[in-house]
Amino acid sequence: MTTDTGELVRTNQGTSSEVSSETGTAVQTLSVLYGSQTGNAEFLASKIVDKANGQGYAAELMSLDMLTPQDAARKDRLLIVTATHDNGHMPDNAQPFWDQLQSAGSDLFKDVPFAVLAIGDSMYEDFCKAGSDLDERLGELGGKRILDRLDCDVDYDLTSGKWIRGMLETFKTVVPKKRDNNPEDSTVPGANPAEQPKGTRREPDTATVVEARLLSAPESEKEVWHYELEVSGDSRNYRPGDSLAVIPTNSIELVEDLLGFLGLAGSEVFGEDGKTVRETLQNDYELRLPHLGIVAWLVENLAPDHPVRNLVESGDRNALEDWLWGRDMLDVLQETRTTDVDPGEFLSMLRPLQHRSYSIASSPLADGDRIHLTVSTVQYETAGRRHSGACSGFLQSAAQTKTTIKVFPLPAHEFHLPHDNSADVIMVGPGVGVAPFRGFLRDREVSQARGRNWLFFGDRHEKPSWLYQEEMEELQSNGVLNRLSVAFSRDQQGKVYVQDRIREEGEDIFAWLSGGASVYVCGGKQIAPDIDEALLAVLRSHGAMTPEKAHDYLQSLKSEGRYVKDVY
Ligand SMILES: Cc1cc2nc3c(=O)[nH]c(=O)nc-3n(C[C@H](O)[C@H](O)[C@H](O)COP(=O)(O)OP(=O)(O)OC[C@H]3O[C@@H](n4cnc5c(N)ncnc54)[C@H](O)[C@@H]3O)c2cc1C
Ligand SMILES: Cc1cc2nc3c(=O)[nH]c(=O)nc-3n(C[C@H](O)[C@H](O)[C@H](O)COP(=O)(O)O)c2cc1C
Repeated sequence: MTTDTGELVRTNQGTSSEVSSETGTAVQTLSVLYGSQTGNAEFLASKIVDKANGQGYAAELMSLDMLTPQDAARKDRLLIVTATHDNGHMPDNAQPFWDQLQSAGSDLFKDVPFAVLAIGDSMYEDFCKAGSDLDERLGELGGKRILDRLDCDVDYDLTSGKWIRGMLETFKTVVPKKRDNNPEDSTVPGANPAEQPKGTRREPDTATVVEARLLSAPESEKEVWHYELEVSGDSRNYRPGDSLAVIPTNSIELVEDLLGFLGLAGSEVFGEDGKTVRETLQNDYELRLPHLGIVAWLVENLAPDHPVRNLVESGDRNALEDWLWGRDMLDVLQETRTTDVDPGEFLSMLRPLQHRSYSIASSPLADGDRIHLTVSTVQYETAGRRHSGACSGFLQSAAQTKTTIKVFPLPAHEFHLPHDNSADVIMVGPGVGVAPFRGFLRDREVSQARGRNWLFFGDRHEKPSWLYQEEMEELQSNGVLNRLSVAFSRDQQGKVYVQDRIREEGEDIFAWLSGGASVYVCGGKQIAPDIDEALLAVLRSHGAMTPEKAHDYLQSLKSEGRYVKDVY
């Protein structure tokens, strides 16, 4: 391994230090393990590794799916950097490690020095839960916590610096655990080394869009496409309810505009791998979704009375998110720039390009190896410039050019059909939220599931935006879709939404629930509280429950996995 301190010679696995062949001085080892789904924690972890190496550590970077807890317990100093996903769950690459930790011997991590840096989003109920769970479990297994965990919100770039400096200083003072002659002694019998999974963000599968069909009518205010993808690898092994991650590239127009604004030609080499700035901006960095951290950094140079600075300093996260809605990185730069931004510094503040998730709208039983997606194309104009969604725009052009794209599977944790196929299902999926339910229905049709199916669908107008109308009506006439309730909010005086239909159909909904039905909700996250409220109202009126009883009933449905949401 080569670091700033020179070539390092590994003398013995798991010793407290390595020796630099140049200086002959002891170098302390640090293992930085990350749990990351969309790349932020991985990126932060890699920056920490660079910083640590710059300070004379021999630091290594590892994904949590590259090692078992037994491997981790043999490290001298452990830093875990992890995100949280999907209602408090581990990122997918941390799940096997977490599962194995549950059966680990009670002193597996005895005296192993560790620290945990958690990142998350305080808008979610289970803020930083994955980090907190890992921290607690390593402690239970005897690990020596060298400093308290830090839970960082979305502006982690700005809020983690002090903790990271402290962590690196503290780890230097730590004497690692003495090794036994046979380090294997500490392993849990039966534990298998983690296999390197395929079909991940780091090792994606490939896909080609082989069919594209416009679902919305041309006069609709939004364009929704049905795509069919031929996919390689593990992505084909999905269940209805899972999602597919698509890794886009940024549009070349946006990249060129940004280069122009920064005064760069684009051919400059950026980073250590010889890539040009243009290539890096197109493939590696998120340019469409400016993060709160970069806005906070940019406004530091603004006059104290600048409205954007005031907004950031007000700490009103919702107002700031509203301001960011519709703005890409170029808009933010243009509106916050008072003095010249140093391009290098700006680039170093960017975050990795995010993959986008799409609910799978097909069923392996009905559709073989083809994966279907239902995608609403993001396109709008602001500040005299046309803006296109990074991924929905990318998919549209990939469909035209038949370019090979990168994808990987995102298995759902709970959002799957009931094991018992005689159970009834109630599906609430307005807009593109209908996608997974198309997969459910196709699956239930082919498997001849005995349970009944009820779909609630809605949008603004029936005419241009009733997605899959013909298919749904056919499923109805085939007897697969037993009930279909639609709400087109703007087709009559007074708005009507799916939650209003739920209230209207309350008596039958309560009867279905009493008979063991499961309820699924999919779509924009703003619908979740409205559906909760509508179901509570149904339970109060038709189940004659007090508000407390209704609340407990809904909670028990959730804990039985009979009330599941996939909202985004
Ligand atoms: C689990 C999961 C499942 C999902 N399933 C689906 C699915 O089945 N179908 C689907 O279409 N999407 C789905 N999504 C959303 C999807 O992942 C993307 O977020 C979406 O396609 C937008 O990505 P994009 O790259 O095209 O747009 P981006 O480049 O990410 O742009 C989005 C940004 O554009 C701006 N914006 C968007 N619309 C407007 C507007 N009208 N006016 C002004 N500004 C606007 C906002 O700033 C917004 O943040 C799902 C998300 C998750 C997490
Ligand atoms: C679908 C989804 C679900 C999330 N759920 C949670 C959550 O339950 N708790 C939390 O603190 N953060 C949650 N987050 C926020 C992520 O932890 C945060 O965006 C983090 O920076 C992602 O890091 P990663 O890119 O390394 O995966 C969620 C993000 C997404 C996209």
